[in-house]
Amino acid sequence: MNLNDTIKTQLNHRSIRHFKNQQLDKETLNTLYEVANHTASSQFLQQFSIIHVTDKNKRTKLAEICNQPPVSENGEFFIFLIDLHRNVKLRQEANLDDGRLHTMDLYLQGLSDATLAVQNMYLAAESLGLGGVILGSIRNDIRAVSELFNLPDMVIPALGLQIGIPDEEIQQKPRLPLSFKVFENEYQDNLSTQDCQLPQSKDMGLVTHDLTVSGNNATSLLPHYTWLHHWVVGSTHLTNTFTH
Ligand SMILES: Cc1cc2nc3c(=O)[nH]c(=O)nc-3n(C[C@H](O)[C@H](O)[C@H](O)COP(=O)(O)O)c2cc1C
Repeated sequence: MNLNDTIKTQLNHRSIRHFKNQQLDKETLNTLYEVANHTASSQFLQQFSIIHVTDKNKRTKLAEICNQPPVSENGEFFIFLIDLHRNVKLRQEANLDDGRLHTMDLYLQGLSDATLAVQNMYLAAESLGLGGVILGSIRNDIRAVSELFNLPDMVIPALGLQIGIPDEEIQQKPRLPLSFKVFENEYQDNLSTQDCQLPQSKDMGLVTHDLTVSGNNATSLLPHYTWLHHWVVGSTHLTNTFTH
């Protein structure tokens, strides 16, 4: 494998949900914002914005929406927004109609812009020795989030990102082998249900734990096939509120 510092950081990734009671300094925050701002954007339309949530009451409300208490605790919290509003305004000021801004295509461009900005900022934070977690659970109640942050029309919450100085040791979660995810020229349908139910991982050699999930560490010790099966088929995660 070709390794450099960036790739080592990427391969060392794990979500961190508990942080030390220490805020990030202005320079670090600014660095992270600059990185997000330099992310590629579809058609150079830059259709995302970020809200840094510093108000404790708003963090508490967000934790309720996300159904995740740590959201109200330590670490900085950022909401990444799909922001088509700015471009609507720019066009209005030029006496133009909304053009294609109300189309699904442009909405999806905004979603990918916001998502890539999240990942870029997240990776920059990890490269600085910080940790964090992406939170899709802010979308458990999009209307409540929109009201809480006074979002105008054409601005939609995409993802939350909580970042801080890690206050927990987290084991890396195993990934499916590349042979299940990387194909050449055509789709290979080689992930069988039987593979997913293997009690022992072929590649990881990890001990099979009780399928009762008692926290991130418990899930991370499951062999990857069994783990995937548990989450996709055997649990309520695909229908109910996301908890981890
Ligand atoms: C788009 C997206 C949304 C996520 N939403 C949540 C979330 O709402 N709550 C949470 O605890 N983790 C969330 N995560 C983190 C995933 O649970 C985590 O990345 C996954 O379990 C793999 O673990 P790892 O990041 O430690 O490798 C999200 C990750 C992504 C990419």
